[in-house]
Amino acid sequence: MGLLDNKVAIITGAGNGLGAAYARLFSAEGAKVLVNDLGGARDGTGSDIGPAQQVVNDIVAAGGEAVANGDDVSTMAGGQAIFDQAMAEWGRVDILVNNAGILRDETFHKGSEANWDLVIKVHLKGTYCVTKPVYQWMRDNGGGVIVNTTSTSGLLGNFGQSNYGAAKAGIAGLTRVLAIEGRKYGIRVMGMSPGALTRMTEDLPHYDQDKNPSPPNHMPETVAQAMLYMCSDLCDMSKSGRFIHAAKNGLAELKVMRSEGWDPAEGYTAQGIAERADQIFFSDD
Ligand SMILES: NC(=O)c1ccc[n+]([C@@H]2O[C@H](COP(=O)([O-])OP(=O)(O)OC[C@H]3O[C@@H](n4cnc5c(N)ncnc54)[C@H](O)[C@@H]3O)[C@@H](O)[C@H]2O)c1
Repeated sequence: MGLLDNKVAIITGAGNGLGAAYARLFSAEGAKVLVNDLGGARDGTGSDIGPAQQVVNDIVAAGGEAVANGDDVSTMAGGQAIFDQAMAEWGRVDILVNNAGILRDETFHKGSEANWDLVIKVHLKGTYCVTKPVYQWMRDNGGGVIVNTTSTSGLLGNFGQSNYGAAKAGIAGLTRVLAIEGRKYGIRVMGMSPGALTRMTEDLPHYDQDKNPSPPNHMPETVAQAMLYMCSDLCDMSKSGRFIHAAKNGLAELKVMRSEGWDPAEGYTAQGIAERADQIFFSDD
Protein backbone atom coordinates (compact mmCIF):
# COMPACT_ATOMS: atom_id res chain seq x y z
CA MET A 1 0.00 0.00 0.00
CA GLY A 2 1.34 3.39 -1.01
CA LEU A 3 0.17 6.77 0.22
CA LEU A 4 -0.83 7.75 -3.34
CA ASP A 5 -2.19 4.48 -4.73
CA ASN A 6 -4.45 5.03 -7.77
CA LYS A 7 -3.85 8.79 -7.81
CA VAL A 8 -2.81 10.71 -10.90
CA ALA A 9 -0.34 13.54 -10.29
CA ILE A 10 0.91 16.31 -12.55
CA ILE A 11 4.25 17.77 -11.42
CA THR A 12 5.64 20.74 -13.33
CA GLY A 13 9.36 21.38 -13.60
CA ALA A 14 9.98 17.76 -12.62
CA GLY A 15 13.02 17.11 -14.81
CA ASN A 16 15.44 18.41 -12.17
CA GLY A 17 15.85 19.23 -8.50
CA LEU A 18 12.81 19.23 -6.26
CA GLY A 19 10.29 18.32 -8.95
CA ALA A 20 12.26 15.21 -9.95
CA ALA A 21 12.42 14.16 -6.27
CA TYR A 22 8.66 14.68 -5.93
CA ALA A 23 8.01 12.62 -9.09
CA ARG A 24 10.18 9.70 -7.97
CA LEU A 25 8.67 9.62 -4.47
CA PHE A 26 5.10 10.00 -5.72
CA SER A 27 5.62 7.08 -8.10
CA ALA A 28 7.14 4.95 -5.33
CA GLU A 29 3.99 5.71 -3.31
CA GLY A 30 1.73 4.43 -6.09
CA ALA A 31 0.88 7.52 -8.14
CA LYS A 32 0.84 7.72 -11.92
CA VAL A 33 2.92 10.79 -12.70
CA LEU A 34 2.98 13.26 -15.57
CA VAL A 35 6.53 14.60 -15.47
CA ASN A 36 6.48 18.04 -17.06
CA ASP A 37 9.66 19.96 -17.81
CA LEU A 38 10.56 22.45 -20.53
CA GLY A 39 14.17 21.43 -19.98
CA GLY A 40 15.81 24.85 -20.22
CA ALA A 41 18.74 26.31 -18.31
CA ARG A 42 18.40 27.78 -14.82
CA ASP A 43 17.67 31.20 -16.32
CA GLY A 44 14.89 29.79 -18.52
CA THR A 45 16.78 29.78 -21.83
CA GLY A 46 16.49 26.76 -24.14
CA SER A 47 14.32 23.66 -24.10
CA ASP A 48 14.93 19.89 -24.06
CA ILE A 49 12.61 16.96 -23.32
CA GLY A 50 15.67 15.01 -22.07
CA PRO A 51 15.46 15.78 -18.33
CA ALA A 52 11.72 14.94 -18.11
CA GLN A 53 12.25 11.78 -20.17
CA GLN A 54 15.15 10.70 -17.94
CA VAL A 55 12.98 10.97 -14.81
CA VAL A 56 10.26 8.97 -16.59
CA ASN A 57 12.79 6.32 -17.64
CA ASP A 58 13.97 5.99 -14.03
CA ILE A 59 10.40 5.67 -12.76
CA VAL A 60 9.47 3.06 -15.38
CA ALA A 61 12.69 1.12 -14.69
CA ALA A 62 11.68 1.03 -11.01
CA GLY A 63 8.29 -0.43 -11.97
CA GLY A 64 6.25 2.79 -11.88
CA GLU A 65 4.01 4.52 -14.40
CA ALA A 66 4.89 7.96 -15.78
CA VAL A 67 4.82 10.03 -18.97
CA ALA A 68 7.06 12.90 -20.02
CA ASN A 69 5.74 16.27 -21.14
CA GLY A 70 7.86 19.11 -22.49
CA ASP A 71 5.29 21.90 -22.64
CA ASP A 72 5.94 25.41 -21.37
CA VAL A 73 3.86 26.09 -18.23
CA SER A 74 3.85 29.82 -18.88
CA THR A 75 1.35 29.73 -21.78
CA MET A 76 -2.33 28.85 -21.74
CA ALA A 77 -1.70 26.39 -24.58
CA GLY A 78 1.06 24.73 -22.54
CA GLY A 79 -1.12 24.44 -19.43
CA GLN A 80 -3.96 22.98 -21.48
CA ALA A 81 -1.63 20.49 -23.22
CA ILE A 82 -0.26 19.30 -19.87
CA PHE A 83 -3.79 18.70 -18.56
CA ASP A 84 -4.92 17.09 -21.83
CA GLN A 85 -2.01 14.65 -21.82
CA ALA A 86 -2.76 13.50 -18.26
CA MET A 87 -6.43 13.07 -19.18
CA ALA A 88 -5.57 11.15 -22.35
CA GLU A 89 -3.28 8.82 -20.39
CA TRP A 90 -5.28 8.23 -17.24
CA GLY A 91 -8.63 10.04 -17.49
CA ARG A 92 -8.30 12.01 -14.26
CA VAL A 93 -6.08 14.37 -12.23
CA ASP A 94 -5.98 14.07 -8.43
CA ILE A 95 -2.88 16.12 -7.65
CA LEU A 96 -1.21 19.13 -9.24
CA VAL A 97 2.15 20.36 -7.99
CA ASN A 98 3.09 23.69 -9.55
CA ASN A 99 6.86 23.62 -9.16
CA ALA A 100 8.46 24.85 -12.41
CA GLY A 101 10.66 27.90 -12.01
CA ILE A 102 13.64 29.95 -13.17
CA LEU A 103 15.95 32.56 -11.71
CA ARG A 104 17.01 35.96 -13.07
CA ASP A 105 18.48 37.49 -9.92
CA GLU A 106 19.46 41.18 -9.97
CA THR A 107 19.14 44.11 -7.62
CA PHE A 108 16.11 46.27 -8.35
CA HIS A 109 18.06 49.32 -9.52
CA LYS A 110 19.99 47.27 -12.09
CA GLY A 111 17.07 45.06 -13.06
CA SER A 112 15.54 44.90 -16.53
CA GLU A 113 11.92 44.84 -17.62
CA ALA A 114 12.66 41.72 -19.72
CA ASN A 115 13.82 39.77 -16.67
CA TRP A 116 10.88 41.04 -14.61
CA ASP A 117 8.41 39.93 -17.28
CA LEU A 118 9.96 36.49 -17.79
CA VAL A 119 10.21 35.61 -14.09
CA ILE A 120 6.63 36.73 -13.44
CA LYS A 121 5.52 34.81 -16.55
CA VAL A 122 7.15 31.49 -15.68
CA HIS A 123 6.30 31.46 -11.97
CA LEU A 124 3.04 33.36 -11.50
CA LYS A 125 1.43 33.05 -14.93
CA GLY A 126 2.79 29.49 -15.17
CA THR A 127 0.99 28.56 -11.96
CA TYR A 128 -2.17 30.14 -13.37
CA CYS A 129 -1.94 28.47 -16.79
CA VAL A 130 -1.63 24.90 -15.49
CA THR A 131 -4.03 25.39 -12.59
CA LYS A 132 -6.79 26.80 -14.80
CA PRO A 133 -7.84 23.56 -16.60
CA VAL A 134 -6.94 21.31 -13.65
CA TYR A 135 -8.95 23.38 -11.15
CA GLN A 136 -11.96 23.37 -13.46
CA TRP A 137 -11.79 19.57 -13.80
CA MET A 138 -11.37 19.06 -10.05
CA ARG A 139 -14.28 21.44 -9.38
CA ASP A 140 -16.51 19.34 -11.65
CA ASN A 141 -15.27 15.95 -10.41
CA GLY A 142 -15.25 15.92 -6.62
CA GLY A 143 -12.04 17.76 -5.73
CA GLY A 144 -8.30 17.19 -5.53
CA VAL A 145 -5.09 18.71 -4.21
CA ILE A 146 -3.12 21.61 -5.66
CA VAL A 147 0.22 22.66 -4.15
CA ASN A 148 1.86 25.84 -5.39
CA THR A 149 5.52 26.66 -4.88
CA THR A 150 6.33 29.91 -3.17
CA SER A 151 9.53 30.99 -1.41
CA THR A 152 10.83 32.87 1.60
CA SER A 153 11.95 35.42 -1.02
CA GLY A 154 8.27 36.20 -1.61
CA LEU A 155 6.92 35.64 1.89
CA LEU A 156 9.75 37.29 3.86
CA GLY A 157 11.96 39.05 1.27
CA ASN A 158 15.49 38.48 0.00
CA PHE A 159 18.18 40.78 -1.38
CA GLY A 160 18.53 40.71 -5.18
CA GLN A 161 15.29 38.87 -5.89
CA SER A 162 12.68 41.56 -6.52
CA ASN A 163 11.31 39.89 -9.69
CA TYR A 164 11.34 36.41 -8.13
CA GLY A 165 10.02 37.61 -4.76
CA ALA A 166 7.16 39.47 -6.46
CA ALA A 167 6.25 36.35 -8.45
CA LYS A 168 6.43 34.10 -5.39
CA ALA A 169 4.34 36.51 -3.29
CA GLY A 170 1.78 36.57 -6.11
CA ILE A 171 1.67 32.77 -6.04
CA ALA A 172 1.05 32.92 -2.28
CA GLY A 173 -1.87 35.30 -2.84
CA LEU A 174 -3.33 33.04 -5.53
CA THR A 175 -2.96 30.06 -3.19
CA ARG A 176 -4.89 31.74 -0.37
CA VAL A 177 -7.74 32.85 -2.64
CA LEU A 178 -8.00 29.51 -4.46
CA ALA A 179 -8.10 27.70 -1.10
CA ILE A 180 -11.13 29.79 -0.12
CA GLU A 181 -12.89 29.35 -3.48
CA GLY A 182 -12.05 25.64 -3.84
CA ARG A 183 -13.00 24.50 -0.34
CA LYS A 184 -16.65 23.74 -1.05
CA TYR A 185 -15.65 21.68 -4.09
CA GLY A 186 -13.23 19.53 -2.09
CA ILE A 187 -10.14 21.17 -3.59
CA ARG A 188 -7.31 21.55 -1.07
CA VAL A 189 -4.85 24.27 -2.10
CA MET A 190 -1.59 24.67 -0.22
CA GLY A 191 1.77 26.37 -0.55
CA MET A 192 5.28 24.90 -0.37
CA SER A 193 8.19 27.14 0.53
CA PRO A 194 11.19 24.85 0.00
CA GLY A 195 14.86 25.18 0.71
CA ALA A 196 16.99 22.51 -0.93
CA LEU A 197 20.28 21.88 -2.66
CA THR A 198 19.48 22.00 -6.39
CA ARG A 199 21.02 23.70 -9.42
CA MET A 200 18.96 26.76 -8.40
CA THR A 201 20.79 27.12 -5.09
CA GLU A 202 24.09 25.25 -5.46
CA ASP A 203 26.19 28.38 -6.02
CA LEU A 204 24.80 30.43 -3.12
CA PRO A 205 27.74 31.25 -0.80
CA HIS A 206 26.13 29.82 2.34
CA TYR A 207 25.39 26.56 0.48
CA ASP A 208 29.09 25.86 -0.18
CA GLN A 209 29.15 22.04 0.03
CA ASP A 210 32.89 21.83 0.73
CA LYS A 211 32.82 24.16 3.73
CA ASN A 212 29.31 23.42 4.87
CA PRO A 213 27.78 20.15 3.62
CA SER A 214 24.00 20.12 3.50
CA PRO A 215 22.16 18.38 6.32
CA PRO A 216 19.61 15.69 5.32
CA ASN A 217 16.74 18.15 5.66
CA HIS A 218 18.30 20.23 2.87
CA MET A 219 18.11 17.44 0.30
CA PRO A 220 15.29 17.39 -2.28
CA GLU A 221 14.45 13.80 -1.25
CA THR A 222 13.65 14.99 2.29
CA VAL A 223 11.64 18.01 1.16
CA ALA A 224 9.72 15.59 -1.09
CA GLN A 225 8.38 13.93 2.08
CA ALA A 226 6.75 17.23 3.04
CA MET A 227 5.24 17.47 -0.45
CA LEU A 228 4.00 13.88 -0.12
CA TYR A 229 2.36 14.73 3.20
CA MET A 230 0.58 17.73 1.65
CA CYS A 231 -0.66 15.77 -1.37
CA SER A 232 -1.71 12.58 0.43
CA ASP A 233 -4.70 11.79 2.61
CA LEU A 234 -2.45 12.23 5.66
CA CYS A 235 -3.30 15.93 5.25
CA ASP A 236 -6.84 17.32 5.24
CA MET A 237 -8.95 20.36 4.40
CA SER A 238 -8.12 22.06 7.72
CA LYS A 239 -4.68 22.78 6.21
CA SER A 240 -5.99 24.30 2.97
CA GLY A 241 -4.63 27.79 2.32
CA ARG A 242 -1.59 27.14 4.51
CA PHE A 243 2.13 27.10 3.76
CA ILE A 244 4.82 24.67 4.81
CA HIS A 245 8.42 25.86 4.87
CA ALA A 246 10.58 22.75 4.42
CA ALA A 247 14.28 23.57 4.45
CA LYS A 248 17.58 22.74 6.04
CA ASN A 249 16.37 23.94 9.42
CA GLY A 250 13.38 21.59 9.33
CA LEU A 251 9.67 22.21 8.96
CA ALA A 252 7.54 25.17 9.94
CA GLU A 253 4.42 27.02 8.91
CA LEU A 254 4.82 30.46 7.32
CA LYS A 255 1.85 32.75 7.65
CA VAL A 256 0.76 36.38 7.44
CA MET A 257 -0.25 37.56 10.91
CA ARG A 258 -2.30 40.47 12.29
CA SER A 259 -0.92 42.23 15.36
CA GLU A 260 -3.04 42.93 18.42
CA GLY A 261 -3.62 46.36 16.89
CA TRP A 262 -5.46 49.47 18.10
CA ASP A 263 -9.12 50.26 17.40
CA PRO A 264 -10.03 53.61 18.98
CA ALA A 265 -13.82 54.18 18.89
CA GLU A 266 -13.35 57.88 18.13
CA GLY A 267 -11.21 57.33 14.99
CA TYR A 268 -7.52 58.19 14.84
CA THR A 269 -4.99 60.73 13.65
CA ALA A 270 -1.47 60.38 12.25
CA GLN A 271 -0.17 61.77 15.55
CA GLY A 272 -2.19 59.17 17.48
CA ILE A 273 -0.80 56.38 15.31
CA ALA A 274 2.75 57.52 16.06
CA GLU A 275 1.98 57.41 19.80
CA ARG A 276 0.50 53.91 19.56
CA ALA A 277 3.04 52.46 17.07
CA ASP A 278 4.22 49.89 19.62
CA GLN A 279 0.70 48.49 19.81
CA ILE A 280 0.04 48.53 16.06
CA PHE A 281 3.34 47.01 14.91
CA PHE A 282 4.80 43.76 16.13
CA SER A 283 7.91 44.27 18.20
CA ASP A 284 11.14 43.85 16.22
CA ASP A 285 12.33 40.73 18.03
N1 LIG B 1 15.88 25.03 -4.27
C1 LIG B 1 15.46 25.89 -3.34
O1 LIG B 1 16.09 26.06 -2.27
C2 LIG B 1 14.21 26.69 -3.57
C3 LIG B 1 13.89 27.69 -2.64
C4 LIG B 1 12.71 28.38 -2.81
C5 LIG B 1 11.86 28.07 -3.86
N2 LIG B 1 12.22 27.13 -4.78
C6 LIG B 1 11.30 26.85 -5.87
O2 LIG B 1 11.14 25.45 -6.01
C7 LIG B 1 10.86 25.14 -7.38
C8 LIG B 1 11.82 24.08 -7.88
O3 LIG B 1 13.14 24.63 -7.86
P1 LIG B 1 14.47 23.75 -7.93
O4 LIG B 1 15.36 24.28 -6.89
O5 LIG B 1 14.15 22.31 -7.97
O6 LIG B 1 15.05 24.27 -9.34
P2 LIG B 1 15.48 23.48 -10.68
O7 LIG B 1 16.06 24.49 -11.59
O8 LIG B 1 16.30 22.29 -10.33
O9 LIG B 1 14.08 22.94 -11.24
C9 LIG B 1 13.13 23.78 -11.85
C10 LIG B 1 12.65 23.09 -13.11
O10 LIG B 1 11.62 23.90 -13.73
C11 LIG B 1 11.76 23.75 -15.13
N3 LIG B 1 11.12 24.86 -15.84
C12 LIG B 1 11.54 26.15 -15.89
N4 LIG B 1 10.72 26.88 -16.66
C13 LIG B 1 9.75 26.03 -17.10
C14 LIG B 1 8.61 26.20 -17.93
N5 LIG B 1 8.31 27.40 -18.46
N6 LIG B 1 7.81 25.13 -18.17
C15 LIG B 1 8.10 23.91 -17.64
N7 LIG B 1 9.20 23.69 -16.85
C16 LIG B 1 10.00 24.74 -16.59
C17 LIG B 1 13.26 23.74 -15.35
O11 LIG B 1 13.61 23.17 -16.61
C18 LIG B 1 13.76 22.93 -14.16
O12 LIG B 1 13.93 21.56 -14.47
C19 LIG B 1 10.92 26.46 -8.13
O13 LIG B 1 9.63 27.01 -8.25
C20 LIG B 1 11.77 27.32 -7.22
O14 LIG B 1 11.54 28.70 -7.43
C21 LIG B 1 13.38 26.43 -4.65
